Amino acid sequence: MATTRSSGKIAFVVVRDGTGYLQVVLSKKEVPDAVWETFGALTQEASIAVTGSVRADARSPGGVELQGTALELIGPSTDFPITPKEHGIAYLFEHRHLWLRSKQQVAIARVRNEVIQAIRDFFYERRFTLVDTPILTGSIGEHAGTLFATEYFDLGKAYLAQTGQLYVEAAAAALGKVYCFGPTFRAEKSKTRRHLTEFWMVEPEVAWNDSDANMQLQEEFVSYVVGRCLERRKADLMELGRDLTPLARVTPPFHRISYTDAVEKLKTLGADIEWGRDLGGDDETLLAKQYDRPVFVFNYPKAVKAFYMKENPADPRTVLNNDCLAPEGYGEIIGGSQREDDYERLRARIQAEGLPEEAYSWYLDLRKYGTFVHAGFGLGVERTVAWICGVPHIREAIAFPRTLYRLWP
Ligand code: 4AD
Ligand code: MG
Repeated sequence: MATTRSSGKIAFVVVRDGTGYLQVVLSKKEVPDAVWETFGALTQEASIAVTGSVRADARSPGGVELQGTALELIGPSTDFPITPKEHGIAYLFEHRHLWLRSKQQVAIARVRNEVIQAIRDFFYERRFTLVDTPILTGSIGEHAGTLFATEYFDLGKAYLAQTGQLYVEAAAAALGKVYCFGPTFRAEKSKTRRHLTEFWMVEPEVAWNDSDANMQLQEEFVSYVVGRCLERRKADLMELGRDLTPLARVTPPFHRISYTDAVEKLKTLGADIEWGRDLGGDDETLLAKQYDRPVFVFNYPKAVKAFYMKENPADPRTVLNNDCLAPEGYGEIIGGSQREDDYERLRARIQAEGLPEEAYSWYLDLRKYGTFVHAGFGLGVERTVAWICGVPHIREAIAFPRTLYRLWP
């Protein structure tokens, strides 16, 4: 039960069952005294059973209301900690298990559900095969500095997966178009509004796609996911006060700018950036604000990107990769690349990064036994949900966020 109010003769109770909200109307002179008394004792978030007859009412949410005849208190609720008054954000996260019941959090949960269903439908419709990749791994996927490690019997250290990518590359050789979708982990000591230590990532990998085809798949994919939310979750987006106009513009083609041009552009916009440095969160925000829909920044310097990205034959200082930046200040939602498919070059990169070659011998095998051009990307679910919902911080985009300072509830 969400709220109550009463005029003394007519009482209103708004109930919530997960499908929506329903207003129950009780009339003092038409219900037994006991029912009226039960109503009087109701408190915020008590659970109740109501009986009555449904009638159309255009003013009610959902278009119907229930004329109540009986009311039973099932689970009382005394001093519910989250009241309609404003609470600080730290307090709300301490009470996340209860805060989830509030209207806006319910709306975010529904949008997230739609995003995830749309992701699965997109790849299913396009005949990708889902391949689940391990969470406990023996090799580093992205950066050595951000690993959660645990002892693994007699085999030394196991790491929580930062990515499933290396494994879907193996699966792409078997199945052509594949994807993995699961939780990933980064021991990042970042306190930004874009970082979680545990987040969900979907990672497609496609045999014979080059970097251009990879970007084309990304723009079709992101447009599909946003389109589904507009089509099916409009009421939830309205509940969140989301301006739908910028979302409606999310259609292919997205803008494209090379890293080198982006650095020049950022300089003219007053950013403190030099060629060779990775774009920071502020740079991404500033750049993306110049565009009316997402933008791809492609071909970054090799030195700031992961070891597996393919060297750009036209400019070996750079790699054939791209980030996709969401508009309205949300920044990177996708990182993707064509993969280094040359055995010797990949081995040299692994050595240059100081990674243990034995741990990557199976990954190198993929270049030894019938190598092929392939590309893929990873989209972060929470960043995408935060952007679509228009909530400023990604910790609201997952039910129980894990961050540097939060492991509870
Ligand atoms: O750019 P990233 O690190 O790319 C990869 O992991 C590749 N292996 C993907 C691939 O090519 N298969 O991460 C991809 C996306 C980011 O764009 C971002 O949306 C999200 O994952 N992400 C995070 N989301 C929340 N918290 C974090 N700490 C994140 N780190 C990355
Ligand atoms: Mg990235």
